[in-house]
Amino acid sequence: MFFPTRRPRSSAPPLPAGRRKPSHPAARLEGDLMEGAHDHSDRRPGPSSADMGIGQRRAALVALLDLLAAAGYDFVSPTPATHRRVASRRERARAANLRDIFGWGRPFDPNDLDPTLLATMSSGGLLVDEGASLRSAVRVSALDGRLHLHSARSDAPDAVFLGPDSYRFVRFLTSALCGTQPRSILDVGAGAGAGALALATRLPHSRVVAGDVNPFALALLAANAAHARLSIELVAGSGPEAAAGEFDLIIANPPYLADGEHRTYRDGGGALGMDLALAWVSVGLHRLRPRGRFVLYTGSPIIEGRDLLRIELERLAAEAGASMTYEEIDPDVFGGMLAHEGYREVERIAAIGAVLSR
Ligand SMILES: C[S@@+](CC[C@H](N)C(=O)[O-])C[C@H]1O[C@@H](n2cnc3c(N)ncnc32)[C@H](O)[C@@H]1O
Repeated sequence: MFFPTRRPRSSAPPLPAGRRKPSHPAARLEGDLMEGAHDHSDRRPGPSSADMGIGQRRAALVALLDLLAAAGYDFVSPTPATHRRVASRRERARAANLRDIFGWGRPFDPNDLDPTLLATMSSGGLLVDEGASLRSAVRVSALDGRLHLHSARSDAPDAVFLGPDSYRFVRFLTSALCGTQPRSILDVGAGAGAGALALATRLPHSRVVAGDVNPFALALLAANAAHARLSIELVAGSGPEAAAGEFDLIIANPPYLADGEHRTYRDGGGALGMDLALAWVSVGLHRLRPRGRFVLYTGSPIIEGRDLLRIELERLAAEAGASMTYEEIDPDVFGGMLAHEGYREVERIAAIGAVLSR
């Protein structure tokens, strides 16, 4: 379907090529759904944000994923720090393939992109007009065998995260399933939907509910689920309280850092970023059905060899009459945070997995 016209073939999927100027403008999604997407419809006529309905945006997001999947697109999302480092190597260079556009977020020449793909992006307001070039307002990464939309930028307050923690979360989650068949599942802080989609795939007869406080995350999650042809119920709101009822399984990969910029996907609250995780477990344990489980993937600050989160989780489990298994998944993540004043006592941050059973 896609063939490069002006660029040599590379090992990466080639850039879909077009031969004419875009027939659609760069546009923007409603409100601040797409951070950094500016409306230049005065310069290039086309649908304005007011004309563009939610259905049209959703359809464009799903069509984008479908087109990329058909083109064999593949990209693994690294940490924001690695992303910045790699992207800065060719900061001014135009994109040479689909991975450049949707993985690394590089600017591209509209003439280089397949017209169908360009029109799809335009109809969803997914083109950021940078004058001489365009940039995608979303990024796309492969996880658990399928494509997921997530934020183009990790520095925005409402950025939708998908990165190494998501890959570790899904791996821990699927191993924690251990052949069980929970019929009702709640993913708290679902983001782009890595956990919810992974479980909905494996448990096609279960009810899967995904909640997030960030509406942009839910918009991308809805498109990711539609692309995967999976049915997931979405709830907007804070913590497990946002979803009604009880569940056999609650899962979460909450924010776990003390983030000075208070970004929703990153700031776990409290001096060391643990508050949200503890609050979700505390509430979630009382929302479990008999023999239900809470599967938590998160980060824990270690001070003088003491795992602070583990100590607090053990206390919560005892109070709720629950048992807990706990493991270190990675002994040292986000080492750069230790340079911050608030982490002066912390010797490392461990990625951990906990399963609390009632
Ligand atoms: C580290 S991201 C994880 C996203 C996803 N679960 C994953 O593993 O890729 C944390 C998520 O929690 C959400 N979040 C932050 N505070 C929240 C709150 N109070 N209630 C619900 N979700 C929240 C963020 O918007 C973000 O999507």
